[in-house]
Amino acid sequence: MTEKLNTVLINFDYQGYELIKTYLQALDFLTVSDFSDDIKTLQEKILKERPEIVIVNISEKTDYILNIVSKILAVHKNCKIIALSDDYSANTVIKVMRTGIREIVNYPIIKDDFLNTILKLKNQNIVTKEKKSRVITVFSNKGGIGKTSVAVNTALELANITKEKIALVDLNLQMGDITTFLDIVPSFDVSYTVNNLAKMNPEFMLNTLECYKDTNLYVLAEPPSLEKAKQITPEQITNLIKLLRETFSYIVIDISPNFDKKTIAALDNSDLILLVTMVNLPAIRNCQRCLDIFDKLGYDANKTQIVLNRFMENDEIKVDDVESVLNRDVYWKIPNNYFAIMSSINKGIPVSIMQPDSNIAQSYQGLAVKLSDNILKQNFAQKSTRTSEFNFMSLFE
Ligand SMILES: Nc1ncnc2c1ncn2[C@@H]1O[C@H](COP(=O)(O)OP(=O)(O)OP(=O)(O)O)[C@@H](O)[C@H]1O
Ligand SMILES: [Mg+2]
Repeated sequence: MTEKLNTVLINFDYQGYELIKTYLQALDFLTVSDFSDDIKTLQEKILKERPEIVIVNISEKTDYILNIVSKILAVHKNCKIIALSDDYSANTVIKVMRTGIREIVNYPIIKDDFLNTILKLKNQNIVTKEKKSRVITVFSNKGGIGKTSVAVNTALELANITKEKIALVDLNLQMGDITTFLDIVPSFDVSYTVNNLAKMNPEFMLNTLECYKDTNLYVLAEPPSLEKAKQITPEQITNLIKLLRETFSYIVIDISPNFDKKTIAALDNSDLILLVTMVNLPAIRNCQRCLDIFDKLGYDANKTQIVLNRFMENDEIKVDDVESVLNRDVYWKIPNNYFAIMSSINKGIPVSIMQPDSNIAQSYQGLAVKLSDNILKQNFAQKSTRTSEFNFMSLFE
């Protein structure tokens, strides 16, 4: 699915809005989410939803409007603003530039100039997005499969390897347990953060998430109560992820094992979904169902990658069989090591810290390397077992 740029129009009457919308319909990478003839009414919405582009008419009440635009830009720094004006005097252009707006075009609109400006902003937007962040959601539609173990340890390894800022977010809103895995008591949580999105800038975001020990891992904990968890909306999840992207290089999300609207909002906004499964018949069947649902949701096949957890070389079902049934390559295998992982969970210390040389810690490290862009991946490529002892395929026919 192509990610669309959200656009808001401000200070246009209905006629002006309709005309611009008609022009913009020629551009399939963009959606117009809102318009208003009054900037004040949209100010808070913009700060919550962070549209990529704002088109504002400054022909009238110029100073008043530029003053509000500068307040928006102080918080929503990545917003691209296009000012439309019937006044091109040096005085106005300087005022516009001082506000932080880099694009000013004629109003009434000259169609080609206007569309060229949008195309220019679109290209800039894509460059900054690709450079900035990667959202990885660890998912399974089955509970107890190892999602939290994978999310916590991989996020920690990503922080060690990349030295960049990593967010670990608990969107298992009702049953989250990242704080238990890490034995921390953060001051803030997801619920607080989504209710304060309008105030968030990267600095505030860093102070809101809990920095784990002396690492670059920042944790956003689950809501403190069921009531608070229920109040969170799918739109808030979307906006939260958008804002986290402004601060963190990688955002690793642990999530609940079902397809409710909030989970789908997180999955929609992810660059990569690690679909965790085990090598047994019920888990593989569930995995197959997940892949069907992802297909229906319109996700590109590359967006989802299969992670086999609790893998054993002598498993009756072989990796080849799993790959044939799912019609997918296995992306990563994490060995079964019950004692190492249980001891780490019980002590609240990630296995990567407690037993860094164990096969399981090494495997999480390898996964983090594969996920990160800047380290040679081939050193860590795993070899899969390729012998099949019984006809596993026949169970799915
Ligand atoms: N690689 C592994 N080897 C052995 N045991 C494991 C492994 N990974 C996870 N486990 C076991 O599975 C249990 C569940 O793991 P975890 O809590 O990470 O799963 P989950 O999918 O997050 O569960 P939930 O759906 O309840 O959130 C752990 O308590 C641990 O006992
Ligand atoms: Mg969990």
